[in-house]
Amino acid sequence: MSPTLTVANWKMNGNRRFWSELTQSLKSEIQYIETNMVLCAPSAAFYDVSRALEGATNMALAAQDIHAEDSGAHTGDTSAEMAKDFGAKFTLVGHSERRMEHFEKGDVLKAKFKQALNHDLHPILCFGESLEDKKNDQTLTVLDGQLSEVLDGVEVLDGDAFSLAYEPVWAISSSAGSLGREPSEDELTQVFEFVRQKMVEKFGETVGNSIKLLYGGSVKADNVAKIISNRYIAGVLVGGASLKAESFLAIARAVAAKPN
Ligand code: 13P
Repeated sequence: MSPTLTVANWKMNGNRRFWSELTQSLKSEIQYIETNMVLCAPSAAFYDVSRALEGATNMALAAQDIHAEDSGAHTGDTSAEMAKDFGAKFTLVGHSERRMEHFEKGDVLKAKFKQALNHDLHPILCFGESLEDKKNDQTLTVLDGQLSEVLDGVEVLDGDAFSLAYEPVWAISSSAGSLGREPSEDELTQVFEFVRQKMVEKFGETVGNSIKLLYGGSVKADNVAKIISNRYIAGVLVGGASLKAESFLAIARAVAAKPN
C-alpha cells in the first residue's frame, strides 16, 4: 500500500450521473499522483462507482458503514459481503455522524470493526471529541475511551490491516457547532502523539508504529499541506472538499507530496 491515503467521504450526496462523472474525472488524473485514493460512497453508488473504477490502480471503493452481521433482517443496512461484491476494499467504522444519528458506540462498533477485518475489508476507525468534550478539557480521555472500546482484545498482526481517522466533531464543516477550522499544529501533535503511543502499547512497536493515522475535519486544498506535514499524519479524510474533482485532486497532490 502507498504510504499515504487520500480518502473521500461523500456522505449522503450525489446521484448516478454525479458519482460516475466525479469518479471518471478523479481516475483520469490519479494515475499520475502517488497516493492511494479511497472513495467512501453511499451504497446506492456502488454499482456506478465500481464500473467507473474499472482498470484503476491506486484507487478503491469503500463503504461508509457496514453491518456487524453477515446477512439477515436488518432493513436498510449493507453487509461486508455486499460491499466486497462491488469491489470495495475499505469501510469507515464509527464516523461521528453514525455515532450521533444512529447511536453507535462500544460493542456495536467493535463488532463492525471485527466484521470488516474478518471479511478482508480494511476498516478506517473514526474517532473524535465533541466541542463540549473539548471545552471540558476531556479530549484525551474521550479519545482513549473511543479507541479502547473498539480495539481492546482485537488481535492484529499487521499494521496495514486497519487505519485510524481522528475527526474532532468541532472541526467537521457540516456539524452543528462546528468551529469551522482545523486543529492547530499543537492540538494535532498532542492528539496524534497520544494515539501513536496507545497503538504501540496495544499492538507492540512494529505493528503500533505502522498503523496509518489520518486526519479529517475541514480539510481543504489550501490547508492540507500544513496538516499533512505533521509527522504523525499519513493521510486525510475529506467531506465537503471531496465532492469536486478539482479540489479533491489538489488535496491528493498535496498528500502525495508529504515530506518524509
Ligand atoms: P468536512 O471535510 O466537510 O469537514 O467533513 C469531514 C468528515 O466528516 C469526513 O468524514
